[in-house]
Amino acid sequence: MTQPLDAFSYQDGVLCIGSLPATEIADAVGTPTFVYSAEAIRSSYRRLERAFAPLGAHLHYAVKASSNLHILRLLHDLGAGMDLVSGNELERAWLAGVPMQDMVFAGVGKPESEQRAALDGRCSPLLDDAARLRAGDVENRGPVGLFNVESESELEVLARVASELGVTARACIRVNPDVDAHTHEYTTTGKEENKFGVSWSRVPAVFAKYRDVDSVDLVGLHVHIGSPVYEIEPFVSAVTVLLGLIDALEAAGHPISVLDLGGGWPMSYSDGQAPEIEAYAEALIPLLGKRAAAGLQIVLEPGRYIVANSGVLLTRVQHVKEGAKKRFVIVDAGMHTLIRPAFYRAFHFAWPAVVEPRHVPRMVAEQLDLPDLHHSDLVGPICETGDFLARGRNLPRVGRGDLMVVFSAGAYGMSMSSNYNTQVRPAEVLVDGDRAIVISERQQLATLLETEMNSRQL
Ligand code: LLP
Repeated sequence: MTQPLDAFSYQDGVLCIGSLPATEIADAVGTPTFVYSAEAIRSSYRRLERAFAPLGAHLHYAVKASSNLHILRLLHDLGAGMDLVSGNELERAWLAGVPMQDMVFAGVGKPESEQRAALDGRCSPLLDDAARLRAGDVENRGPVGLFNVESESELEVLARVASELGVTARACIRVNPDVDAHTHEYTTTGKEENKFGVSWSRVPAVFAKYRDVDSVDLVGLHVHIGSPVYEIEPFVSAVTVLLGLIDALEAAGHPISVLDLGGGWPMSYSDGQAPEIEAYAEALIPLLGKRAAAGLQIVLEPGRYIVANSGVLLTRVQHVKEGAKKRFVIVDAGMHTLIRPAFYRAFHFAWPAVVEPRHVPRMVAEQLDLPDLHHSDLVGPICETGDFLARGRNLPRVGRGDLMVVFSAGAYGMSMSSNYNTQVRPAEVLVDGDRAIVISERQQLATLLETEMNSRQL
């Protein structure tokens, strides 16, 4: 099996994370539970870093992909900065120990209060709790290293707030290059009809308008065309649009020192789905090499590439139902745990954690050609027909209480989980060497209900 890296492998018929059997982890913490491999996170981070090393690229991890504080710390230790899309993600990154100058604050709808907190720690929502949560001085934490600004309205507010606070906001304009990333329509972000960024043709006018505004320093351009981008060509097209803009801006007297290429760097959910990351780097290095050597800072915002194949979801079979037309394997995870299959019809390989030797999967594919499999849907407990994890798959026979593994669940799994049907959010475990560490406890029902226990008249 090539896809879930060496960190996830069947040993004597039992799926192990590193050397730890998934069954032991599930027995200890229950299900559903996300389990991540620190080794896999480190190795994918380093591989991406190596691929883009000729450009001296700075990696800012997209916190939204998997936001656990311990994962942020692990990545920060590897040298990653953070890419944030909300004020609360900023506070997470700060709690994880990331310095403000290593943060990039993106997002299409930043509220003024969050812009304020990103410029001045005294406006942080954690101000009162900071000492309890992290030793550190919130008041003097300083502004984020970079804002990625998505609209002229946002820039106007940013300039005013920075001026009120007496600081300078360092910013890139997110460019909408009108390039099709050929990915799911919900995660396509670089087309003219998408809500993201400033239309490329407007960008020179925006730079001109803010040229003499002291509270904003427009240092560069940002682009993010979609996620995941399974073809190299859209990146080449987007970079070509941005290089043209850089030429025009510099000719007009606006020096450009930062080019943030965003995220969308893909990995494979099934064998051979995505080109290797090195192929993306090889296509982009010739376009950018000269400018990078001359001092243009290249930034990448990878999320999925680093964590997707570094995590699995463990879920237990509650019932098996032989329907009139189909067999349903009903597990305790569903669209509230991992929404990607329901929301994007995304493929995730799913397989029992314990199998006979003839059923050890050698690869990750929609259907495996193995003996004695049974056509099944893997579905959750939620009261919606759209609540499925895998549909129409050939699976080994499983029964009540058996453990199932949903692979490639490390990105946009836990971070998109919900309390729908008053389900609690799952636990998270990080396997590092021979240790398994609970990095997030299973949510308690009492915690879930806390905000509703009292009421007050307005
Ligand atoms: N930078 C920006 C501005 C983004 O909007 C995103 C993702 C990233 C970076 C990171 O993209 P990545 O490297 O992870 O592909 N929930 C969807 C993905 C939505 C991505 C949203 N933006 C999914 O489960 O596939």
